[in-house]
Amino acid sequence: MTIRFGVIGAGRIGKVHAKTIAHNPKATLAYIADALPKAAQDLADRHGAKVASVDEIMKATDVDAVLIGSPTGFHAEQIQAASNAGKAIMCEKPVSLSVESIHETLKVVAANKSILMIGFNRRFDPNFAEVERRVRRGDIGAVEIVTIVSRDPGPPPAEYLKGSGGLFRDMMIHDVDLARFMMGEEFVVVHALGSALVDAAIGKAGDVDTAAVQMQTASGRIAVITNSRRATYGYDQRVEVHGSKGMVHAKNVHNTTVELLSQAGYQADPIQNFFLERYEAAYANELNTFIDAVEAGNRDPRPNGFDGLQAQKLADAATESWKTGKPVKV
Ligand SMILES: NC(=O)c1ccc[n+]([C@@H]2O[C@H](COP(=O)([O-])OP(=O)(O)OC[C@H]3O[C@@H](n4cnc5c(N)ncnc54)[C@H](O)[C@@H]3O)[C@@H](O)[C@H]2O)c1
Repeated sequence: MTIRFGVIGAGRIGKVHAKTIAHNPKATLAYIADALPKAAQDLADRHGAKVASVDEIMKATDVDAVLIGSPTGFHAEQIQAASNAGKAIMCEKPVSLSVESIHETLKVVAANKSILMIGFNRRFDPNFAEVERRVRRGDIGAVEIVTIVSRDPGPPPAEYLKGSGGLFRDMMIHDVDLARFMMGEEFVVVHALGSALVDAAIGKAGDVDTAAVQMQTASGRIAVITNSRRATYGYDQRVEVHGSKGMVHAKNVHNTTVELLSQAGYQADPIQNFFLERYEAAYANELNTFIDAVEAGNRDPRPNGFDGLQAQKLADAATESWKTGKPVKV
C-alpha cells in the first residue's frame, strides 16, 4: 500500500514536492490542484496524476495525505479543511502569517488528532542533520553560539513577495527554525536589523532584502542569523555551532568536487544555485519522515505545528524589532 497524495499548489515548491512524491516508491501522486488550471494540468501531465480542485482533493476517498504548497495566505484554511476531512497533512512553511490563526489551526488539528508536519526542510539536509546529531551527541560540549548564513541567489518575483509576509516570516523563518533545532533551547529575546540593499522596490513595498538577527535563550546562549535576497555566487547556506569543547560546521555544497590549482590561485566549481538543487535530498528525506509517520500512525512527526508556531513567534518578533529598533521579548 502506498500513501496517496493530493498536492495543492503547482508553483515553485509544488513542482518539487510533486516530483519527490512521484519518485518515492511508498507514495502515489494522485491529484494536483492549483488556482491556475494550466499550472495544475502541466504538473499532473508530467507525473501521470489527475487534476482536481482543492475541495475535490479534500473529499476524495482515494487521498490519504494532502501536501500544501499554495501561497502562505491559504495554508491555515487548507490545513483545517484537510484535518476536518481526515487527511494527514504536510504543509509548507510558514503555517500562517499570524500567530492567532496558527493557534486556531492547531486546535482543529488536535481535535481531529490529525498528523501535521511543517516543511522546515533544512532539518532534513544530510549535512545540517549531521551537524545537529554531533551537537546532541556532545561532540562540541555545551552549545554557546549558533551562526547561520543564508543568502538566496536572487529575490523571488514581486507578486510572490506581496503575499509572503516579508523576509523575516518568509525566508528567515527557515533559519530561525534551524537555530532552534541546533540550539535545543527556546529563544526568549530577538534583536533585528534590516535594509533594502538589493532592490529599492522591495523597500518601497515595506519589506527588506538584507537582514541580521541576534537571538538569546534564557540561559544566555546566542544565535546569529544573516540573510540576503542576493548572492552573486549561488545559494549560500552555511551553519556553524560553537560550544565549550569545539566547533562543528557545514559548508556550502558545490556543483562538483573538482578544484583547479594554478598560479592564479585555487578555483572550485560554483556552489549549487538554489533550493531545488541544494535541498533535493532534504525534500526526499522530509517526505520519507512524513510517510513513515503516516504509516506508523505517529501523530507527531517533527517539525510539527508547535515548531511552526515557535518559528512564527520569533519571525514576528524579528519583524517588530526591525521596525522599532528595539530588542523584543518572546
Ligand atoms: N520549503 C521550501 O524550501 C520552500 C521553497 C519555496 C516556497 N516555499 C513555500 O511554499 C509556498 C508556495 O511558494 P512557491 O514559491 O511555490 O509559490 P508560487 O507562487 O511559485 O506557487 C504557488 C502556486 O499556488 C497557486 N495558488 C494560488 N492560490 C491558490 C489556492 N488558493 N489554492 C491552490 N493553489 C493556489 C498559484 O497559482 C501558484 O501556482 C509558500 O508558502 C512558500 O513559503 C517553501
